[in-house]
Amino acid sequence: MSNGSSSGTRTDFISVPVELASRSYVVEIGANLLDQTGSRLRQLGLEGRVALITDENVDRHYGPQVTTSLARAGYESSCYPIPAGEASKALATVEQVCDSMARDGFDRSAIVLALGGGVVGDLAGFVAGVYYRGLKLVQLPTTVMAQVDSAVGGKTAVNLPAGKNLVGVFHQPTFVLADTVTLQTLGRREWNEGFAEVIKYGVIRSPELLVKLAQDPLPDLAGVVRECVQIKAGIVAADEHETSGLRALLNFGHTLGHAIEAVAGYGSFFHGEAIALGMRAAAYLSQRHTGLSPEEVAQLDALLRRFSLPRTLASGFKPEALLRHAFADKKFVSGRIRFVLTPRFGEAFVSEQVTSNDLLDAVSYLQAT
Ligand code: NAD
Ligand code: GLY
Repeated sequence: MSNGSSSGTRTDFISVPVELASRSYVVEIGANLLDQTGSRLRQLGLEGRVALITDENVDRHYGPQVTTSLARAGYESSCYPIPAGEASKALATVEQVCDSMARDGFDRSAIVLALGGGVVGDLAGFVAGVYYRGLKLVQLPTTVMAQVDSAVGGKTAVNLPAGKNLVGVFHQPTFVLADTVTLQTLGRREWNEGFAEVIKYGVIRSPELLVKLAQDPLPDLAGVVRECVQIKAGIVAADEHETSGLRALLNFGHTLGHAIEAVAGYGSFFHGEAIALGMRAAAYLSQRHTGLSPEEVAQLDALLRRFSLPRTLASGFKPEALLRHAFADKKFVSGRIRFVLTPRFGEAFVSEQVTSNDLLDAVSYLQAT
């Protein structure tokens, strides 16, 4: 990590490297960076026409600012706004965006810019991964969720009715620019849901982060984003394609979380809200299997409350339906569930001890308390 300094028109920013040999890149984090999108792309030597993929909300807030910055730096761009929300993370949207880009004459020299939250980042990342067999990708994350997690690490995907993120490719960005000022226009619910992933980082790697998160107001937002990105960058650098089991730790709370999202219908829960429930279930099973202390379970509960994240699941959710979805998830390998447990906050591991009955008990726990 290094601190960028004000040179010329650049404002202060923090730069976190993601070390992936020839595919290494930096994540720049700071206030008022979006105006410098075009000049940063020039400094990085990126050439080509720009396909700016965003959603309709984000376009209203930041589309013109980014387009103007690109034009100032001499980039020609076309903007492709998709409807906001998880339902857009679908193959149909990929086809629409790719078809529009083809009609507009984009070829393999194009640069894709993903301006928005995780939905835009995952969708645009997938488009960049497959259009003409792969285009350069720049992530401009505008939600807490996207700045701390989804814009970094190269996982891209869309959903199928059968499950979350089932169609995707690994496609690393060339550059990530996280302007923390954009977070000021998030609605309360959108702001809160992003902190589910921040809590996740604390649980798996940093008890100190959990202590910081309990403070209200939150001190040093850019520092919180930086810490999360540093944790993720370290994990991704060591296990880019989730082969050693290390990267799987980032899935803490995601086994049931993804199932809840799919069963509720994409968009009913925000991703972070479903992950909050999944983490609560994972803490319950961690207490059972690895001796996570009741105090730590209570600490997680308090943090979920502090960010107004859901802690209980309506009784209308059929446990069997959740289990079916959980079994269709990528986290099942050869019929065995790979479930992330934490014996104490700051540590986590992938366990194959968790059974279907455990999952049913965890759902009952969410539905009873
Ligand atoms: P989102 O992209 O749907 O954004 C939430 C809402 O906020 C949307 O309505 C959006 O229009 C609005 N919005 C975005 N930025 C705004 C801003 N600055 N001001 C005002 N409104 C704004 O949701 P999300 O939580 O950012 O992302 C969730 C997605 O991310 C899920 O699909 C999840 O699977 C994915 N994800 C991917 C990874 C990964 O590693 N690829 C990691 C975590 C999550
Ligand atoms: N959000 C999980 C991962 O990037 O691996």
